[in-house]
Amino acid sequence: MSAGALLRPRRHNPGCGRGVSPSPRGAQVARRRTTKAPMSLVLPNASIKEMARTPLDEKTFQRFCELIYEKAGIKLGEGKQSLVDARLGKRMRKLGIKSFRDYLHLVEQDNSGDELVELLDAISTNTTHFFRESSHFERLRTLLQTWEAAGQKRFRIWCAASSTGEEPYTIAMTVREALRDVQDVRILATDISTKVLRLASQGVYTRQQVSSIPAALVSKYFQRHQTHHLDEPHFAANDELRSLLTFARLNLATPPYAMKGPFDVIMCRNVMIYFDNVIRAGLLAQCERLLRPGGYLIVGHAESLSGMLTSLQRIEPSVYAKR
Ligand SMILES: C[S@@+](CC[C@H](N)C(=O)[O-])C[C@H]1O[C@@H](n2cnc3c(N)ncnc32)[C@H](O)[C@@H]1O
Repeated sequence: MSAGALLRPRRHNPGCGRGVSPSPRGAQVARRRTTKAPMSLVLPNASIKEMARTPLDEKTFQRFCELIYEKAGIKLGEGKQSLVDARLGKRMRKLGIKSFRDYLHLVEQDNSGDELVELLDAISTNTTHFFRESSHFERLRTLLQTWEAAGQKRFRIWCAASSTGEEPYTIAMTVREALRDVQDVRILATDISTKVLRLASQGVYTRQQVSSIPAALVSKYFQRHQTHHLDEPHFAANDELRSLLTFARLNLATPPYAMKGPFDVIMCRNVMIYFDNVIRAGLLAQCERLLRPGGYLIVGHAESLSGMLTSLQRIEPSVYAKR
């Protein structure tokens, strides 16, 4: 499986599932064209501060929900109106737009799909941290060591909703710690949000963010990073980790995905909760296709495949194997 094959862009769905070409050494994220709001919708900065937004009416909220579901599979239901109001409101302030209807119109009229990307960036929930649900990394370590002991030399891992990078860098640390030979290891990290992918590819974290990493691993795999625009010291993932990683945009709601696999392990954690069973079924079918026989799918602790049609075998809660 070449990295190029993994990341082939999907052309028929503007704004969703665009891929990137990976650099030979790790993290690179697609550059986007900057979205410009139509001039008639842009206000000078001074007016933006003063302006009041018109409230998000029910009909416009419903249309946003439909659009977000159609493009990203994210199910926003009742009770999410204030979330949509706050998150899209922020984007609208940046553009100088004060009516949600005008913003909806802008997204729908933007044939480039760029504003749709911005909308999805604004709406997605990106909560994550290093070593989140740590038993999964214990499981990963054991699998890698068992496979290496059996003579396996090539390892492919996919982190399917990588957010700001804490999960894929945790995978990379686990790989480095577990394996004696990492010459043929690739970790593909994907997400729908270009904003989080940019941060993930930078791989720079605050002291607070790295506090969930054991101190010995911080010393081993992160460098202190001080630049004049950051007032407190930050920690940058070093090349040992970065060289294992490729970041790309991928929309899990638009199967089939443009990669061939096979993967030894797919970590698809804490993203299925945002989908309904239709989107989950498509995602699951793709995971089954992309795993090698004997490979593992790991989902979030709060997620389960029970009730879903799948040939994957449940090993323990949130851990499944392809037989
Ligand atoms: C709560 S975070 C989980 C991050 C990480 N997997 C973890 O467990 O810590 C959910 C991530 O899923 C991404 N996401 C939401 N919808 C998606 C979609 N349709 N395709 C790909 N990623 C999506 C969001 O952008 C966000 O970064």
